[in-house]
Amino acid sequence: MDFEIINGAPVQIETDCLVIGIGADADFTPSAEAIDSAAGGYLKGLLDSGDFSGKNGESQLLRDLPGVTAKRVLLLGLGKAGERSIGKQQTLINAAATTINKLGVASAVLALDGATSDDDDIYRDTRHLVEWSSAALYSYDATKSKKADPVKLEHLFILCEEEQTELAEGALLDGVAIANGVSTARELGNLPGNICTPLYLADHAKNLAEEFDSISVEILDEKQMTEMGMGALMAVGKGSEIPPRLLVIKYTGADESEKPHALVGKGITFDTGGISLKPGAEMDEMKFDMCGAASVLGAVEAVAEMALPINLVVLVAAAENMPSGNATKPGDVVTTLSGQTVEILNTDAEGRLVLCDALTYVERFEPQSVIDVATLTGACIIALGHQATGLLSNNQELANKLLDAGQYAGDRAWQLPLWDEYQPQLDSNFADIANIGGRPAGTITAACFLSRFTKKFAWAHLDIAGVAWNSGKAKGATGRCVPMLCQYLLDIAEEKES
Ligand code: BES
Ligand code: MN
Ligand code: ZN
Repeated sequence: MDFEIINGAPVQIETDCLVIGIGADADFTPSAEAIDSAAGGYLKGLLDSGDFSGKNGESQLLRDLPGVTAKRVLLLGLGKAGERSIGKQQTLINAAATTINKLGVASAVLALDGATSDDDDIYRDTRHLVEWSSAALYSYDATKSKKADPVKLEHLFILCEEEQTELAEGALLDGVAIANGVSTARELGNLPGNICTPLYLADHAKNLAEEFDSISVEILDEKQMTEMGMGALMAVGKGSEIPPRLLVIKYTGADESEKPHALVGKGITFDTGGISLKPGAEMDEMKFDMCGAASVLGAVEAVAEMALPINLVVLVAAAENMPSGNATKPGDVVTTLSGQTVEILNTDAEGRLVLCDALTYVERFEPQSVIDVATLTGACIIALGHQATGLLSNNQELANKLLDAGQYAGDRAWQLPLWDEYQPQLDSNFADIANIGGRPAGTITAACFLSRFTKKFAWAHLDIAGVAWNSGKAKGATGRCVPMLCQYLLDIAEEKES
């Protein structure tokens, strides 16, 4: 499906389906007002009769409205002004896109006048229309013998006022790039563990380098990592028949001399827990344990598509965590790339082990900022549920930027403390650090572990355990964090330009 910004009078637009909005208490948007007067008060009649009230989530399809060129008009209830939260906006756009697609029409026009949200940020509204309608039409069929029906909706036009066209067109381009990044992250996340292995992720990175001149890729194999001294990362992959990989992806959008920002993703392509084996129930969902990797891969793709004037290094620490005769055992002590030793008391706390070596490796790029993204702890789901990403950082300025970016992008994080007082939970009798810190504050002690490897740069950790995928009937990866990461990098690019 492609998007296009158009101008014109809603009444005269030739389209299979024109989408307009009405707020609660007969709060007509300009487009709805125009359609109503052309149709001789048809819409007001609908409200008077009580057949439509404009409450959030309501929708009604009208055909052959008198005086209106569009074949169909889809009325959307926008809810009360002042109560149009970003969550409601997302649900609304999702429902609208799904409804239009089900109609089976080839094209539709959104004439929502920026009224789906309470702010009057045309850029943001337009971008969200693009991102969320495209997310609504995503479907997974890679491993089904019967492929999904192709999306019938080929063109989605977004109507805007003439003086806003340039702004809206910029938003559209950014929105398409971010939407593609999200859908890449979802697809990688959804692929099963027997397909999406560390080697598969490495191939994905190589394909990115083929696709974009601005991207180059280097893949470190098990031999190189062992020689280099990545004892923690290697310990996680030991039980698997498939060797680990460290993906090093460089995006160059600014002068070569400019220091990069860095993203680091946890890429456990399946997490059985290793010798500290997980219980069987829902273990299939541990194929999603590479969603941190998926989101940094989605983000770099979007950044390259937007051609942001920044430099970016993206690392993916990819391994499969399996039990076997050769697997790491509880109590084993390994030496990390940083030289610090770690007592692996629980082989299921493997994410921090692959990340710590990647975080030491990233030092060589002298990054301006480093953000790691990981489905790191079940405790994060207990703390924040399935709404917010957990954010912990050694730099409050960076933390604030990410909180703001998440807010703007509708992909929110919530900060947890990274106080020194938690650090003693990681004391070990046999190594410099233990890889677990007991039951209390599991998300924080996991971040404390990582903080031992991030002293040389401004760093933030995003725990996406609760938001990376949905369970149950709607089981599937969400692509969460791609919008936040892209917004953070867009903000940096903008800061640079001004
Ligand atoms: N990948 C899991 C975390 C996870 C669990 C994410 C469930 C989403 C849903 C991680 O590797 C893990 O197993 N963490 C352990 C850490 C514990 C052993 C300290 C956990 O959270 O139980
Ligand atoms: Mn684990
Ligand atoms: Zn894991």
